[in-house]
Amino acid sequence: MNEAIRPVPESPGQDTAQPILSIVVPTFNERDNVSALYGKLEAALKGVAWEVVFVDDNSPDGTWDVVRARARRDGRVRCIRRIGRRGLSGACIEGILASSAPFAAVMDADLQHDETQLPKMLSLLQSGEAELVIGSRYIEGGSADSFNRHRAGASALATEVAKRVLSVQVADPMSGFFMIRRDRFEQLAPELSTQGFKILLDVIATARGELRTVEVPFTFGSRLHGESKLDSMVALDFLGLVLAKFTNDVISLRFLLFAMVGGTGLLVHLGTLFVALRVLEFPFPEAQAAGALVAMTTNFILNNFLTYRDQRLKGFAILRGLLAFYLVCSVGLLANVGVAFSVYDQEPIWWLAGAAGALMGVVWNYAMSGLFVWRKR
Ligand code: GDD
Ligand code: MN
Repeated sequence: MNEAIRPVPESPGQDTAQPILSIVVPTFNERDNVSALYGKLEAALKGVAWEVVFVDDNSPDGTWDVVRARARRDGRVRCIRRIGRRGLSGACIEGILASSAPFAAVMDADLQHDETQLPKMLSLLQSGEAELVIGSRYIEGGSADSFNRHRAGASALATEVAKRVLSVQVADPMSGFFMIRRDRFEQLAPELSTQGFKILLDVIATARGELRTVEVPFTFGSRLHGESKLDSMVALDFLGLVLAKFTNDVISLRFLLFAMVGGTGLLVHLGTLFVALRVLEFPFPEAQAAGALVAMTTNFILNNFLTYRDQRLKGFAILRGLLAFYLVCSVGLLANVGVAFSVYDQEPIWWLAGAAGALMGVVWNYAMSGLFVWRKR
């Protein structure tokens, strides 16, 4: 019989009631953890109408396939397979918004978070005592002993920065384990960043103290299978989020990175110009063109690696992207010179005109690169 039309076997004792709790589990290469997590949830949530929504970014190990197979047998399990996108925060947001239960929790797939706390967290929300409950490592009774020294230090530093710069009053704003009322989340969702991984900090900072919050202690365990997806780049994500929230979302991390890469491009340009003129003895126009070409190329590579690492172009798309980037930047240069010229015309202050032109150029390049080079799929 065709797989698609085979009757779905009824699983006995399955709860058909509308779930009151949606547990959102972002996954990337967590194939071996899915079953164990499911078993733990089932044991911890007896008597609660729950569902689990796995949000998988098309894991190469086929995590989505394992989840899908389980979802076919069990209505409590759902799978969102995202293609062409990466990012923990975005996955969590999408998972919560794809469910409808009045309460939503977020947790790691790797059993590092303590699922036995879920009923307690739920009852704090249901009683109205809290609108957000955080599984906290840094209050009495909680711990993160499984962290190595390096990671523990980084986590403590980031927590301190978040508390001071964003006046966050919570002991563990970096936790990846929390539960929130749906209505409150839906209000905040349009302002949350889908980039990066600090979704809880984003929620807290965006709510600006207007979210009744309770922390419950838990012990951050060791990962069951696989390895952590958080690399040293997460420090960058973190700083970007702090900056964005501190400036009321005026400056985005992406734009800042793009502009910083642009700054390195200037140095590359001058370096190349020097070598072309002095070492290779090119005539000036050729040397200047070589400088521009090399700088655009290094900018492209850096942006592909850093600024757009969640949408990194690979394989043949790199070549297409590079050509589009050359084109975008060439027009950007015209815009740059045009603006600088007209400013200079009105007010002959060289640095003001130069800066205005450069700003125009980077804004143009940024906007157009987002449209034509690293297109959101
Ligand atoms: N869909 C999706 N996309 N899931 C992802 C991605 C992604 O790009 N990156 C990571 N995940 C999933 C992982 O598969 C895992 O289930 C969960 O998100 C957390 O990632 P881990 O790799 O397990 O992170 P960690 O354990 O090192 O970090 C934990 O502690 C941090 C605090 O120190 C997480 O809970 C973080 O959220 C938390 O901030
Ligand atoms: Mn983890």
